[in-house]
Amino acid sequence: MNVSYDLFLIIPPGLEDLAKKEVELKCPVSEMTSIKGGLSLKADIEWIIQAHALLKIPTRILMRMAEFKVRDFPKLYQKMLNFKWTPYLSHPQPEWEITCTRSRLMHTGRIEETLNKSIQEALKRQPLNQDWEKKKYSPQCFYVRICDDILTLSLDLTGDPLYKRGYQVIKGEAPLRENFAAAFVFEMMLNESQEITLVDPMCGSGTFLTEALTFFMPLHLRKFSFEEAPFFKGRTFKIIPNDEKLPIKRLLGFDINDELIDRVKKALVPSSPIELNCRDSLKDKLTEEEVFIICNPPYGERIKILGKRGHYLSEAWKKFIEIDRPLKFGWLLPSDMDDLFHHPKGYELLSKRQLRNGGMAVTFWIWKRSHLETI
Ligand SMILES: C[S@@+](CC[C@H](N)C(=O)[O-])C[C@H]1O[C@@H](n2cnc3c(N)ncnc32)[C@H](O)[C@@H]1O
Repeated sequence: MNVSYDLFLIIPPGLEDLAKKEVELKCPVSEMTSIKGGLSLKADIEWIIQAHALLKIPTRILMRMAEFKVRDFPKLYQKMLNFKWTPYLSHPQPEWEITCTRSRLMHTGRIEETLNKSIQEALKRQPLNQDWEKKKYSPQCFYVRICDDILTLSLDLTGDPLYKRGYQVIKGEAPLRENFAAAFVFEMMLNESQEITLVDPMCGSGTFLTEALTFFMPLHLRKFSFEEAPFFKGRTFKIIPNDEKLPIKRLLGFDINDELIDRVKKALVPSSPIELNCRDSLKDKLTEEEVFIICNPPYGERIKILGKRGHYLSEAWKKFIEIDRPLKFGWLLPSDMDDLFHHPKGYELLSKRQLRNGGMAVTFWIWKRSHLETI
């Protein structure tokens, strides 16, 4: 039987419920606890491989390795010295991500110094395999969290965050982070079985459309940190073919920036089903088809807009709701604009999710056209 590890999935706060649903759908486990900013669960190495390949909402996955009480530096040094590093350590100079709350040990600089000294001494007793030098491994990152004098030591299994997918190379000026885009598209498609056309009228680099297209596709164009760890050695990273997809028959993107649309189009593989066009989406009806619209309009910070932000956004919102009349409308805005968007006629509010994106409070709304309006 495979060893079961204590794992913690780091999730952007506000997306925990969607991340939980994603785990249940793609790689279910018998027990999972959701807390602010993460999910904790127990699973084996096969699950770790699957989860890294398939999950699109988490930022990274940590493996919990030890937990102990510590109130002074000599004890910290001794505990780390006696820790059995061999199954985990692949590089002699790990990086540390240290946080301390309400504890006797609060000086992160001194904690790091102690950890480094202790690990160098430990390596004399538990010599490291030389693969790291021959194969040019990257340093691992250990998360050290001291809260109320209890230290939790975890190993980052992921390396570069999971939202660095390795496939979207062209970025606009204000691209949405891939795991946010994946979560919002997933939420729009929850409980849908009929295939729909998804339109992003202000698509920029096309993150919503790419995430919609690849939601079930395994991530395989990049490496993950755990692949270099001794406990993984000798295993192969199998890519499981998967023909599952979100119920979407067409992916349509528009943007007013012709130069960006041109570059994004050129970077798409020739067989990509994503259709991109340059146009001003605030002028005419986008298409005669019945569609779902998902949109992250410019806020007037990195991308300039005409006139005052509030006026511009409420005019844009009115145009989409009154002219395009999508079956569902997903709209991501700064939360200080929330008051502008009241109950639109003929629509019901499905969800209003508040979270932070790049330090800014934002709201993701989903409205659904009422049944009577649909027939
Ligand atoms: C915040 S960005 C969208 C970013 C996109 N979600 C991504 O991940 O790259 C807003 C986009 O709206 C586009 N835009 C602004 N006004 C527009 C209009 N009237 N019609 C179409 N696109 C517009 C901008 O060129 C910009 O690319």
